[in-house]
Amino acid sequence: MISQKDWPEYKKIAQNVDQGGNRELLINWYAQKYQLFEGGSPASRKCCELLYQNLIASDHLQILDVGCGTGDQARLLQSLGVQEASFYGIDMSKAMLESAKSKKLYKELINSILPEIPYPDRHFDIVISAGTLCCPGHAPVETLSEMIRVTKPGGLLCFDYELNWFENQESGWKKTHEQLVQKGLIKELVRQIDAYIPSQNISGLYFVCQKGQL
Ligand SMILES: C[S@@+](CC[C@H](N)C(=O)[O-])C[C@H]1O[C@@H](n2cnc3c(N)ncnc32)[C@H](O)[C@@H]1O
Repeated sequence: MISQKDWPEYKKIAQNVDQGGNRELLINWYAQKYQLFEGGSPASRKCCELLYQNLIASDHLQILDVGCGTGDQARLLQSLGVQEASFYGIDMSKAMLESAKSKKLYKELINSILPEIPYPDRHFDIVISAGTLCCPGHAPVETLSEMIRVTKPGGLLCFDYELNWFENQESGWKKTHEQLVQKGLIKELVRQIDAYIPSQNISGLYFVCQKGQL
């Protein structure tokens, strides 16, 4: 979890990336600070709980974790009772992926920079993304369409946005999200506000959505 002490440096680097600065600085920051995220962020815990509460029974779930970080989503979901599943993760940070790999819970971990998701269309039953999409300097808005593309029709997507950044027109996330809902590509099953970065009193907007039968 990002502490009071780490916040100023993180914020400066993330905002710089958002304004067209060097993404390597953010990748390096995560390489140095990956231990802050061990155990899963508050966003991770919230997403996993919401996803588990809305799971549709299935024999064997294929789950993609977008911005998997230290790989705690697989651990948390398994501890909640999601046993019959294969987990796949993508992240831009090799250090984060090494930590995820050490937990031996993911079938495949890929180093990739969003919005690119290197999987075929309609491939996963579930796509989860915690603490990664709508925060300055992280994933671009095109990522949500990519997540929908790789989800099977009727499958679930569980993700969060930093609330202030979602409401900020400059980010483009609110417009993108609402357009995809209006087009019927996703249907909101759950929309909830909860803690996101507690040390900064920043709230998150959490969703469970279902992909349309298109
Ligand atoms: C705040 S951490 C969250 C990690 C984990 N999901 C959790 O909640 O504990 C954000 C993660 O997203 C990854 N990330 C950020 N921007 C990315 C991008 N454009 N492409 C791929 N990964 C990205 C970072 O490397 C980091 O692992």
